[in-house]
Amino acid sequence: MSNKRVKPIELKVENYLGNRLGVNTYVPRLSWKYSGNIEDDTKVVIKIEHHLPGKKVTEEFVKVDGNNNNYLPWPIKPLLDRELVSVSIKVDEDSDEWSDKLEFDVGILNEFVFEGRFIGYPECTGKTDHRPQPIIRREFNISAKPKYARLYLTSLGLVEAEANGNRVGEDILTPGWTDYDNRLKVEAYDISDSLRKGKNVLGFYLADGWYRGRTGPVGGQVNYYGDKIGVYVELHVIDEDDNEYTIASNSYDEKWKTTMGPLVRSNIYEGEWFDQRKDISGWLKPDFETSDWQDVSEVPFDRGKMYFAEDLPIRMDGIHKPVSIFKNDQGWIVDFGQNCTQRISINVHGLSDGQELIVNHVEVLNPDGTPAIRPLRRGIQQDKFISSGKDMTWETKFTIHGFRYAQIIGWQGDLTEDDLVAKVYHSEMKQNGKFNCSNDMVNRLHDNTLWSMRSNFVSIPTDCPQRDERLGWTGDIALFAPTACDLYDTTGFLSNWLEDVGYERDKFGTLPVYTPYMPFAGWKIISALAIWGDAATIVPWSIYMNSGDKKVLKRHYPLAKKWVDEVITYLSDDGVWDRKPAYDVGQLGDWLDPTAPPDEPVKAMTQKELVATAFFINSCSILSEMNSQLGLKDAEYYKKIADKSKAGFKNRFFKSNGYMTSDTQCAYSLAIEFGILDDFPELLEIAGNRLDELILKAGNTIATGFAGTPYILNALLKTNHISRAYKLFLSDKCPSWMYQIKMGGTTTWERWDSLLPNGEVNPGEMTSFNHYALGSVTHWIYSTVGGLKTVKPGWREFLIAPRPGGNITNSSVSHITPNGLAKLNWEVSEDEILLHIHVPFKSVGVISFKSGEEKRLNSGSYDLRYPLEKFV
Ligand code: BGC
Repeated sequence: MSNKRVKPIELKVENYLGNRLGVNTYVPRLSWKYSGNIEDDTKVVIKIEHHLPGKKVTEEFVKVDGNNNNYLPWPIKPLLDRELVSVSIKVDEDSDEWSDKLEFDVGILNEFVFEGRFIGYPECTGKTDHRPQPIIRREFNISAKPKYARLYLTSLGLVEAEANGNRVGEDILTPGWTDYDNRLKVEAYDISDSLRKGKNVLGFYLADGWYRGRTGPVGGQVNYYGDKIGVYVELHVIDEDDNEYTIASNSYDEKWKTTMGPLVRSNIYEGEWFDQRKDISGWLKPDFETSDWQDVSEVPFDRGKMYFAEDLPIRMDGIHKPVSIFKNDQGWIVDFGQNCTQRISINVHGLSDGQELIVNHVEVLNPDGTPAIRPLRRGIQQDKFISSGKDMTWETKFTIHGFRYAQIIGWQGDLTEDDLVAKVYHSEMKQNGKFNCSNDMVNRLHDNTLWSMRSNFVSIPTDCPQRDERLGWTGDIALFAPTACDLYDTTGFLSNWLEDVGYERDKFGTLPVYTPYMPFAGWKIISALAIWGDAATIVPWSIYMNSGDKKVLKRHYPLAKKWVDEVITYLSDDGVWDRKPAYDVGQLGDWLDPTAPPDEPVKAMTQKELVATAFFINSCSILSEMNSQLGLKDAEYYKKIADKSKAGFKNRFFKSNGYMTSDTQCAYSLAIEFGILDDFPELLEIAGNRLDELILKAGNTIATGFAGTPYILNALLKTNHISRAYKLFLSDKCPSWMYQIKMGGTTTWERWDSLLPNGEVNPGEMTSFNHYALGSVTHWIYSTVGGLKTVKPGWREFLIAPRPGGNITNSSVSHITPNGLAKLNWEVSEDEILLHIHVPFKSVGVISFKSGEEKRLNSGSYDLRYPLEKFV
């Protein structure tokens, strides 16, 4: 294809998605793809239009190497605070095929440019979390029609803004959860369409959220970050006569008024109560009488901690309609068919003044059809509507629930499927991965993983979305990160979270087991834990291997290095990490392996020091690789340390007959997968055979917990036990992945048998139906069943290594790489395999045969046919 017909497409600034307001750097990097291949020496032309608010549009053109299309450094002089630009790109000077425009503006990056203050209700309304939530309003005049209006918004607590009664933006739970002692995210909105000449009103609903609401398990914490919530508002307007206005929140001009609103209580976990009788009519319209409202007071907060988001907000992504509705003694039960993070929007009608509607949200029903509320612990997820007698569509504002079923109490008349839907919410990200194969159980497992990821990627990566926990548990994402990166572009999301992990690591001298950290129950002491701490290496590395974003790797390298350097100080002379952390339970080890009693998930079979050392070796190897990628000097140093620990591991945890001191599926899997036996082929073979045998003895059921699960199938593959890998993978006996599918799971569960074979909910405390850790097998589905896996940062080189097995006869897998779509469809036909492959621009796809031979494919599409035995 000649260059001229190729168009730059999918322009991106930093790691956002499409157009973006409030970019968080003056020198944003640009990325794009091409609609076809360009020639090697192609120069592309970039047009940058500057739209400084209120100034004449100016244009600049720059020519850059067309191969520089991933994270091109900002090619002209740095932008300014609030500067608005649009970027378009074309291939070749004489082409007139400009790309679509990418528009963005810069946030306020210099704290001294912020003009407002945080303001809130004057008094703290008590220590209880069951308190009413305030609203705030401000009226102002504009003398001509506005042509530019940028609203900068954040809050201590949560906020939803209205401009003349129009909801601002579509985001919920703004500004999300960060370690507020470290930083507070600001969002920018264009509200020019909602403003008008004359009188205008800004209104704000506020709520406790994570800032002041009850958060976390075992009673949680209330008022953790502060006992007053507040909002920060800064609005810049330019009207058609070029008059400029700045409306900034403050407590001294007496224009900002507050009172209590209709939310009589609001809590992320426990739910929200809306009292319609307290919904003040007309407060979002001009000339509303506020004489019985109060003046706001300032809520002190260091504006230097405000920052513009690098990830995207939480938004709706689809709806679920009821799939069944039935009535029982207590009320109506609605099944939405899918467990996930969602909220109900319900058309309330026919209630009279003072009548209540209660909505309980649960993941599963008990065998008798009642909602299974017990696993939620204190996080009861109960919303309440108290009617004033008027019909309305009601959706909560500042809570979020993990559920499939809703129980509705107090509904008048018959509840029908037209009365309600469930709206799905998660942090916005681009879905990069797709998979499908001839086995529907496998497809369902893949989809369940997707749903558990969506449900738990809500501002931070959480363990679960339903019970009184929902914390950024580091171990869970350490194990799931490679899968997460197969499925979605997580670069902005995870990198944002890692920033707080790095901050807290420095504050506490080690990684807390969850970030943002609050002290709860047994976690008041902070002590280094394997796997949970290994998020410091595994998460940034996974992001980097998928995105190729070197800046992100560089930024989080110190976190990775500090973690490894810290663990080095805990090692015994032989390189084994056997020093017990300062928790009564010690290391968490292979957390929740299926032999652990329901209430003691930590009592797993595999020796904890074995697990800890294996993960240390893995982290050390990753750190060595990071050094090579970043051109740093310590690659060899960390490799040597890893080698020493490998030797120590081998001496300590292998007996003379080649069996391990913990004769478990987890132990062999980690030893094989983390390269500990790579220099000892005989031992590797014994380990593989023993792993195979243990699984056979267990009747092809799984015996690993969080730690071993992501690695077991690959360990079988690496040691030539592919047929056992498929037997285990496809078994539906309890415990197994397919058992969850057989039992009707629509998400991946925390424990293998969250639902027991008799249909009862597991009596353990840890019984979530929406944890992503065990879904980490999906990385294996992509790399081995489907057959695609990145091996060089940003998918510059990737493996094409399908290993068909079980009853799977065809598969289709794809990944949107930074340079375009990588795709592999395969189909087995008798003793042949047909491959349809697409390798994107500037990438190399490496077909990897079972013998170890390889065939390299440059960018292009290929239809190939091989004897099946070359792959299995
Ligand atoms: C969470 C887990 C977490 C674990 C560690 C649990 O309560 O739900 O996923 O990693 O605690 O202790």
